[in-house]
Amino acid sequence: MNKTVLVDCDTGVDDAISLLYLLADPDVEVCAVTTVFGNISAQDAARNTLWVLDVAGKGGRIPVAVGSEVTLLGEAMELATFVHGDNGLGGVEIGRPSAAPSPLRAAELIVRTVRERPGQVHLLATGPLTNLAVALRLEPDLPSLVEGVTVMGGAAMVPGNITPAAEANIWHDPEAAQAVIGAGWDLTMVPLDATMAEVMSEEQRLEMAGSASPVGRFAADVLDFYFDFYRGVYGRKSSACHDVLAAAIAVGDVVATRAMKVAVTVETGAGPARGATICDTRGMYKGETDQPGASCTVVLATAGDLAASVVRRLSSFQP
Ligand code: BDR
Ligand code: CA
Repeated sequence: MNKTVLVDCDTGVDDAISLLYLLADPDVEVCAVTTVFGNISAQDAARNTLWVLDVAGKGGRIPVAVGSEVTLLGEAMELATFVHGDNGLGGVEIGRPSAAPSPLRAAELIVRTVRERPGQVHLLATGPLTNLAVALRLEPDLPSLVEGVTVMGGAAMVPGNITPAAEANIWHDPEAAQAVIGAGWDLTMVPLDATMAEVMSEEQRLEMAGSASPVGRFAADVLDFYFDFYRGVYGRKSSACHDVLAAAIAVGDVVATRAMKVAVTVETGAGPARGATICDTRGMYKGETDQPGASCTVVLATAGDLAASVVRRLSSFQP
C-alpha cells in the first residue's frame, strides 16, 4: 500500500464517488470512515457508507463510525438533501448493509486509528469539519500523529456555493472549520476554485452506466439526481468533482497546477460572509508565492481531466 487514508465524510453522492475511487485503487488502504451531518444526517451517511463498502466488495472490512449530528456549538443545520436526494444517494434504492457501524464515536475512531499508526494515516475530510475539531480536542497532538490532512472545502477567489461567500462544508460549521484550519498542521485545502473546474459530463456518466462494472453502473445511477441539480449551476447536465478531487490530491494522483501556501481564516461572524474562507492570496501579485510561516496549501487549479480517470477506474472495477 502506498497510502493509508481515513475518510471523514457526509455521504452524499460525491462522497460516495470519492470513496469508490479510493476503494478501487489497490495501492490505497481506506483504514476507516467516519461520518458527519451535512448532505444528510451522520447516521444516514454511515448507512450510505456501509452500503458503498458493500458495493465495492469491502463490507465488514473497514470500520465506519457515526459522528456529529450538530455543529460544534450544538446547532442543528439544514441538510443538503435538495442536492443529494432524500437518502443522500440520489434516491437510488439501497439494501440493508451487511455490516453495522462501530460502537465508537467518529472522533474516538479517528484518535484511536492515528494513535495506533503514528505518522501513517492521511486524514481526508469531505464534509463539515465537526468530527475533526472534536478529535483535535480529544487529542491535541493529532497534528503530529497524522501523515497529512486534505480538506474539500472553501472558496479562495471564487464565489461560494451555499451562500455568495461560503462553500457548503465550511458554512455548515464555520467554528469547527476555523479550529481545524487554524490548528497549525500542514493542511491542503481543495476549494471550489479547483473543484468547480473539474467537471464530469453526461456522456461520461452514461459511459459508466453502460460499463460492465457493477460499481460503474451504481456510480452512474447515484450521479443522475446530482447531475440534474448541477444542470441549474452549469446550464447543462453534468457535475462538479468536489470530493473526488480532494481524494485524488490526498493520494497523489492529482497535483495542483496552481497552489499557494497562505494563512487562511474562516469567518465565524453572523453576517453575510459567515463561513467564508479568507485566504491571504495577496502574494499573487508577485507570482503566487507562498507566505512565510503559513501551513495551509490552497489548491487553486488542477489540470481539468480528473473525470476521465474516475470514469475509467470505476467502469473497470470488478470487486
Ligand atoms: C461539498 O458540499 C457537499 O454537498 C459535497 O459533498 C461536497 O463535499 C461541495 O461544496
Ligand atoms: Ca461531501
